[in-house]
Amino acid sequence: MDFSYYMPAHLIFGRGKAKETGAYVKSLGNKALIVTGRSSAKKAGFLDLVTKSLEKEGIDWVLFDEIEPNPLTTTIDKGVKLARENKVDFVIGLGGGSPMDSAKAIAFGVKQEGSIADYLGAQPAGEALPIALITTTAGTGSEANKNAVLTNPETYAKKALSAPSTYPKISIIDPELMLTVPKKVTASTGIDVFFHCMESYLSKRSHPLSEPLSLEGMRLVVENLKGAYDDGRNIEYRERMAWANTIAGIAINLAGNCGIHALGHPISAYYDIPHGETLASVSLAFLRFSIPEAAEKLAKVARILGVKGEGMSDIEVAEKGIEAFETFLKSLDLPIRISAFGIGEEDIEKLAQNAYNNSFHNFKSSPREMTLDDARKLYIESL
Ligand SMILES: [Fe+2]
Repeated sequence: MDFSYYMPAHLIFGRGKAKETGAYVKSLGNKALIVTGRSSAKKAGFLDLVTKSLEKEGIDWVLFDEIEPNPLTTTIDKGVKLARENKVDFVIGLGGGSPMDSAKAIAFGVKQEGSIADYLGAQPAGEALPIALITTTAGTGSEANKNAVLTNPETYAKKALSAPSTYPKISIIDPELMLTVPKKVTASTGIDVFFHCMESYLSKRSHPLSEPLSLEGMRLVVENLKGAYDDGRNIEYRERMAWANTIAGIAINLAGNCGIHALGHPISAYYDIPHGETLASVSLAFLRFSIPEAAEKLAKVARILGVKGEGMSDIEVAEKGIEAFETFLKSLDLPIRISAFGIGEEDIEKLAQNAYNNSFHNFKSSPREMTLDDARKLYIESL
C-alpha cells in the first residue's frame, strides 16, 4: 500500500484551449523556444495558432522544428545549442510525444554540462528551464509526467530521462487539435494509452491511487479508440481519448510501465517503428506469459474488453481476455507480430540484450518478473 504522489503540472483541458496558449504561458517568461516536428503541426495550422497567441501577449519565440519520431539525443543537443544561443526563458513542446519529450530534454539540457545522452536512464538532480506542453495526439501522456524518452543513436539505447525538474509547468490538452490526426497515428498512439493503463495496472508498483486511474483509462480506450479511428473528425471520441491519455500519463507517473514497454523500446530503437506498434507486436506473448502471476488482474482487464466469463476461473477469463485483445488490435489494423517489421530469428539476441540492458527496471516490475532468457523467448513467440 506504500506510495507517494507528486504531480506539479498545471493541466488545462478543453476544446479551444490551445488558442489561449499565450495567456497561459506568459508567467513563464518573455521568450520561448518552440519545439516541434518537421511538418505536421505546421501543416495543420497549430504552429500559427500558437505563435499568434504568443505574439498577442508580447512573447517572443524561436522555432526548433527538427524533432523526428523516436527523437535522438543528437537532435536534443542541437536544440540545447539553439536555446542557449537565443537565451530563451522557457520551452514549449508542440506535437505528439516526440516533440513534448524533446522539449523537456532541451529545457533540462540547457542547464547542464555535456550531452543529454549522459543523463538517460536516470533521475538526475539539476534544474531545467520552465516547460509548457501542448499535445496534439492522444498518445504518450507526456503532458502529465516528467519522462522524456530518447534514443542514443550510438548505443541504440532508448531510455527515459526523468528529472524532478522535467515536469511541465503547464500542459494544454485541447481535443480540437486531435481531429486531423491520421488514422494510423490514431491507432498507434491510442493503443499506447491502453498499454500505459494496462502496464501500470499489472506492474508490481501499482497501488490504490494508480489502479482506479488505470482501469478507467482502459475502459475509455476500449469504448472510444475504435470510434476515433473510424471517424477521426468526431470531437466526442477525440475528447474522451484525450482524457484517457491524460489519465494514462498520470497512471504511469504513479506506477510506471512494465514488460511490454521493455520489449517494445528496442524495436523502435533499431528499426524506427512507431512506439504503439512495437508494443502491440509483443503484447500477446507477454500477457500469456503473465497469466500465472496476474490472473486476477488480467481477468479484470478481460471484463473491460467485454469478456463475460460467467462461472469461469480467473485464468480462463484472462485467456479469453487475451483473445479479445487480439481482436481489438486487429480491428485497429495494428501488428500483432514482430515479423511484420521484417524482424527475424537472427535479430532476437540483439533485441533481448538491448531490452535487458536498458529496461531492466521494467523486467523487475512485471507481474511475473522477466529474465534475459524470458525476453528471448517472448520475442521468439512474437515472431
Ligand atoms: Fe508508451
